[in-house]
Amino acid sequence: MEHIYPIFDTILSTNQKEKLLKQHSMVIWMIGLSGSGKSTLARALENTLHEKGYLTQLLDGDNLRTGINNNLGFSEEGRIENIRRAAEVSKLFANCGVITICSLISPTHSIQEMARNIIGEKYSEIFINCPLEVCEQRDVKGLYKKARNGEIKDFTGIDSPFEEPKNPDLILRTHIDSIEECHNQLVDYVLRKTEFK
Ligand code: ADX
Repeated sequence: MEHIYPIFDTILSTNQKEKLLKQHSMVIWMIGLSGSGKSTLARALENTLHEKGYLTQLLDGDNLRTGINNNLGFSEEGRIENIRRAAEVSKLFANCGVITICSLISPTHSIQEMARNIIGEKYSEIFINCPLEVCEQRDVKGLYKKARNGEIKDFTGIDSPFEEPKNPDLILRTHIDSIEECHNQLVDYVLRKTEFK
């Protein structure tokens, strides 16, 4: 890029901010179908971490799509840009020492790779593994019914692809384990990584 002079070398380091906050920052990137339980687990994780005295930021696909991503749709292009922005914003928060929890479908391998590459070593991939049939049966928002009726086009899992992450750091099975059990597994995983020594 021409005529752009970033000043990365003169700004405070992440480490100085982590010291202030007494936590190691990380990006907890939660991948899964609509209705798999991502947002529920993300919110519960944020509450638990807050109670334990950690500074967190939650970035949820549905919420981001009402603000910074409100000009994007669900075409492949729209989803790529949605994830690119979410990953860049996560990186800013993580560089500030904040534990950042992201809940976005992130449907394809190339999209998942992009998030991982943008965020770098602070990226932790959590796969909320719940079969399409179960998500569709839950149909919390009534969107699967609309997608089947043709009222919504390009719906993930119906007429738009979902590729299971290849090598997640943690897999939570919300159709087998209870939300409490999945929550505990997630909290244990995060606390191990964020503990400040
Ligand atoms: S992503 O594919 O770009 O990662 P994102 O997580 O931001 O998706 O948004 C998914 C949410 O948008 C779903 O939970 C659902 O509420 C809503 N939604 C609306 N249309 C669609 C669609 N065509 N496919 C998937 N989700 C949709």
